[in-house]
Amino acid sequence: MTVLSAEEIREIEAEAARYPTREAVGIDALRIVQRRRGYISDEALSDVAALLGRTPEELDGLATFYNLLFRKPVGRHVILICDSVVCWTLGYERLRERLSSRLGIALGQTTSDGRFTLLPSVCLGACDRAPVLMIDGDTHFDVDPDHLDPLLERYS
Ligand code: FES
Repeated sequence: MTVLSAEEIREIEAEAARYPTREAVGIDALRIVQRRRGYISDEALSDVAALLGRTPEELDGLATFYNLLFRKPVGRHVILICDSVVCWTLGYERLRERLSSRLGIALGQTTSDGRFTLLPSVCLGACDRAPVLMIDGDTHFDVDPDHLDPLLERYS
């Protein structure tokens, strides 16, 4: 018995058909599951692993490495704040403090209304526009900690 829906399995199989081996579809398969469920539970991860002929540990390693895959429930919107070296030196700490204070949560937490989860991230690849954060896959550059409200209001 699998926790995966027929649609999820169908989508994963369609994706797998585009790859030379079933093992290669790991991240895409997990993204399919996350898109439908919001995060990847242990049960869903095990079932995807079985479907692809991999171990849950292998897939968990992939999910942990890839910072856009979530292994625990998250809010409707996920804010990734870059804490790598360039952002760190160009305003990370002040931005993190303002975000935490504005949302009332620390890193790793979700607001009580389930609207935002705030997570740290490795370099988001836009170091020349630091400090940088990403919300639901949208990258925001040169983020001004004093003007967070218009940015956050875009995500209801
Ligand atoms: Fe933050 Fe590269 S260090 S985007």
